[in-house]
Amino acid sequence: MRVLLTGGSGFIGSHIALLLIERGYDVLILDSFVNSSTNVIKAIKTYLDNKNINHSFKIINGDIRDKKTLDRIFDDSAKEFNPIQSVIHLAGLKSVSQSFIDPLHYWNVNVCGTQNLLSTMNEHECFSIVFSSSATIYGLTDSAPITEDHKISPINPYGKTKVAIENMLYDLYKSNMKSWKVCSLRYFNPVGAHSSGLLGEDPIGIPNNLFPYITQVAIGRRNHLNIFGDDWATTDGSGVRDYIHIMDLSEGHLDAIDYLNSKESCFEFINLGSGIGYSVFQIVSQFELSTGLDIPFLVKDRRDGDVAKCYADISKAKKLLGWKPKRSLEQICLDGWNWQKKNPNGYN
Ligand code: NAD
Ligand code: UD1
Repeated sequence: MRVLLTGGSGFIGSHIALLLIERGYDVLILDSFVNSSTNVIKAIKTYLDNKNINHSFKIINGDIRDKKTLDRIFDDSAKEFNPIQSVIHLAGLKSVSQSFIDPLHYWNVNVCGTQNLLSTMNEHECFSIVFSSSATIYGLTDSAPITEDHKISPINPYGKTKVAIENMLYDLYKSNMKSWKVCSLRYFNPVGAHSSGLLGEDPIGIPNNLFPYITQVAIGRRNHLNIFGDDWATTDGSGVRDYIHIMDLSEGHLDAIDYLNSKESCFEFINLGSGIGYSVFQIVSQFELSTGLDIPFLVKDRRDGDVAKCYADISKAKKLLGWKPKRSLEQICLDGWNWQKKNPNGYN
């Protein structure tokens, strides 16, 4: 089965790509490499070669906003009598802070790019899509665990583009309910790395997110971790989030594809998280315990736009997809550190 994976060179996309290829899917990766390195593709090939896994996946260096490129991809597949049967759509921009600085760019890439992709899919009669949405769409909420029917109330432009895309997907589904199969996966906090140490998270510049910041302190690229507040209404005062191993998250996409394949038509929003909330202090302690390293930290003021607790109710994913996260917080720390240790400067 041929799958088009947009954003397949990024943090999440690269792990999904590897899993799809390992499981025998015929994968086309479309990425503009605006936020990822071509070394990611080399790492995927190295892993597959080391494991003697036959592969013929294709890389297309292109932009989801370029209609000609998209048309060519679908046309070429049809000419090869191997049409694209499903799209996993991850290409997009994801920095909360950048989305405040340049909102139009975020709307252009995320929303216009997705509109372009969807209209191309529609024209080529490819009606199956898994989309990467985010828990950020739930906004400032202190009710946890969060179910999919929780109020949608994004507080940043990035989150608003995700809501706009979910709405666009819904309108499209309603316009042709006999054909469209849509699964919008709302990720919580994907972290960790592939156990080989060949793939992992390599943020550009200073990491905004907790986990890559910790691994960069551990490798000596940063002096200490700043903990944003120890006076939250949580058991130890630090923020509580839902950290999910990147491979558990990736497996959820394969289960979503299977789910779509089993349906005539459908439209679902599904949370993907571990379903467990851990505080910043708990993450630091577990990382220190798993690696034997010290993570020096300073407690700072709260960060704007943060909440005390945010973690997922994952019963819908369990029920509909037959999926459940398998990897522990310890595994997350071990795999995340293994990646950082083997690649102190990421992919460069
Ligand atoms: P990432 O930046 O590592 O990967 C995104 C990929 O998309 C990059 O390889 C980038 O080069 C590519 N890309 C960007 N604009 C493009 C365009 N116009 N055309 C083609 N390719 C383009 O991000 P990620 O962490 O892997 O996230 C993937 C998706 O998941 C994003 O849509 C993101 O919003 C969503 N998401 C991520 C998180 C997270 O914590 N990482 C949480 C929730 C949702
Ligand atoms: C952040 C984004 C959210 C996005 C998500 C995944 C903000 C306000 N929210 O959420 O929109 O969907 O990433 O990409 O940017 N922390 C520290 N020190 C750090 C970094 C984080 O103490 O250097 C704390 C935070 O205050 C929070 C926890 O660690 O309590 C997790 O932070 P982070 O990894 O940024 O994830 P989110 O806050 O869930």
